[in-house]
Amino acid sequence: MGCSMTDYEPKKRMSGGKPDTEKRERKTKSIDVTNATRMMTRKVKTARGRKISSKLWIERQINDPYVKEAKIKGYRSRAAFKLLELNKKFNLIQKDALVVDLGCAPGGWVQIALKLGAYRVVGIDLLSVEPIGSADMIEMDFMNKDAPDILKKKLGRQPDIVLSDLAANTTGHRQTDHLKTVSLVESAAEFAMEVLKPGGSFVTKVFQGGAEEKLLNILKKSFKTVKHAKPKSSRSGSPEMYLVAKGFLIKK
Ligand SMILES: C[S@@+](CC[C@H](N)C(=O)[O-])C[C@H]1O[C@@H](n2cnc3c(N)ncnc32)[C@H](O)[C@@H]1O
Repeated sequence: MGCSMTDYEPKKRMSGGKPDTEKRERKTKSIDVTNATRMMTRKVKTARGRKISSKLWIERQINDPYVKEAKIKGYRSRAAFKLLELNKKFNLIQKDALVVDLGCAPGGWVQIALKLGAYRVVGIDLLSVEPIGSADMIEMDFMNKDAPDILKKKLGRQPDIVLSDLAANTTGHRQTDHLKTVSLVESAAEFAMEVLKPGGSFVTKVFQGGAEEKLLNILKKSFKTVKHAKPKSSRSGSPEMYLVAKGFLIKK
């Protein structure tokens, strides 16, 4: 379930920002992905005894320019590029923002939020996350009934933005997986509307063509603007996209 920098296959070049490790970025120019892909596409030769799906998976990982660029920039996941793109398009993370990151492991979004000027990030994940700067990471199931209160206590005040990149472990059973995903998105939205400060933002990963109609209608009533976006760094074959809701309205 953990999201590593090898989870998705990119198509195009992404420009990144400052690295976690300044020294490494200064030495390395950003990648021309088209060229890099052409030059670096490699086949897995030692495939004897390996399943075709696993051979393709390994090939995809070693030829993924976003994985390479994430390594160069010191990002913990290639997902970092998705938040960078979303931020560029929607101007999400303001200086000194208090940020919630649901499904934060291994920490790519936490790194980006801090780099963009957030003064603090409070994250939660089923998996443990290596410490990052001023971020507080809670190792816990977000669906646990106590999770919202634990998050609120850690936050101390209303956050400026709630980010959710939560992705359920898939079972292979389509209906079950769909229900698990819908339930994560709904819980993230419910939490956001409970804690956000007026004017705050909510970003969530959604699947299969966007948010469910019922949730979308609630969000449209609770935020000034609600939009869907598919970052270039999100694999085109993947059903994931993001919902960006801005301008949280005070509940009447
Ligand atoms: C796509 S990854 C997040 C990647 C992250 N945004 C980054 O940049 O490193 C999705 C994460 O959601 C977490 N997750 C899934 N279900 C969860 C739950 N019920 N509670 C907490 N975390 C959950 C997974 O463990 C996984 O680490």
